[in-house]
Amino acid sequence: MSFRTIEWRDNRVVMIDQTRLPAEEVYNEYDDFQGVAEAIRGMIIRGAPAIGVAGAMGVALGARDIIADTHESFFRQLDNVCDVLARTRPTAVNLFWGIERMKKVADANRDKDLNSIRTLLKAEAISIEKEDLQICRALGAHGAALIRDGATVLTHCNAGGLATAGYGTALGVIRAAHESGKKIGVFADETRPWLQGARLTAWELMKDNIPVTLITDNMAGWFMRKKEIDCVIVGADRIAANGDTANKIGTYSVAVLAKENHIPFYVAAPVSTLDLSLKNGDAIPIEERPCHEVTQLRGMPIAPEGVAVRNPAFDVTPAKYITAIITERGIVRGDYERTLKTLVGQ
Ligand code: MRU
Repeated sequence: MSFRTIEWRDNRVVMIDQTRLPAEEVYNEYDDFQGVAEAIRGMIIRGAPAIGVAGAMGVALGARDIIADTHESFFRQLDNVCDVLARTRPTAVNLFWGIERMKKVADANRDKDLNSIRTLLKAEAISIEKEDLQICRALGAHGAALIRDGATVLTHCNAGGLATAGYGTALGVIRAAHESGKKIGVFADETRPWLQGARLTAWELMKDNIPVTLITDNMAGWFMRKKEIDCVIVGADRIAANGDTANKIGTYSVAVLAKENHIPFYVAAPVSTLDLSLKNGDAIPIEERPCHEVTQLRGMPIAPEGVAVRNPAFDVTPAKYITAIITERGIVRGDYERTLKTLVGQ
């Protein structure tokens, strides 16, 4: 891939600015954890695995800058860094997973001097990024087997290289099928209100010469009915113990339409997206974002001033609509209460 979503470079965190794509390919540099937190909140970086990496790198930056004479003071301040990063976006569990992994490294090395702890945290954040790329490739290889040669795949939002450390989850499956020589076409839902499908999915697939057709969200049902879509693959922000899956708002509607039209609906996500502590999707916190994201397009008003607005960023697709969940450890189908546990050795 010809872009880097996020990387640790010269003691800074560098991210492609996803709010400016596709018009401009600009890389922002962050020198402190507050900047990384703002980048997550402001959608400069977005997508569950990518914000997991960003959260971890934010912790490493924060740890580096803590001024402390004692371990007690260091760990107290580190907790604050983690809290600030965790308060940015509530739905994608990967963010909390990334931060938690960093906390564990710090805790396991409490007996070391503070500079050694800082060095270990930086190494951990970098390895989370490297691992994510490998995970996406493994997940892609498993999922590619489900896609037949000549298939047209519908995807929603962006679960691509931009939403991960690279390669992608849903788009990772598509990339792997394409790389294996299958002729794959993609329909990308534009994904209002942030237009991740139009701005990001279309951009990265075109860069890789994977045929992509952009449609508005309300067209998906029509193309399913006309038998122009063979399967749906989406990413996930959090998967509960029973398989209920939170993903970008609009995913639920696509899943219901897929079932009605007898089209397989696949979720592609790393194991770090599982939250088996939640019994079902009702317990997944759903982020509500500012009204202007709905009433304006790039600063231009598209609705009367003062209109009431709701703007949930995610919805939950009940497990009964999900044909299979594709992970780096393999594919599970049905009876998710049991099958998801096998992925984590429970
Ligand atoms: O609000 P976003 O752009 O962060 O939402 C992203 C999604 O919903 C993705 O589909 C999900 O995070 C999976 S990314 C591999």
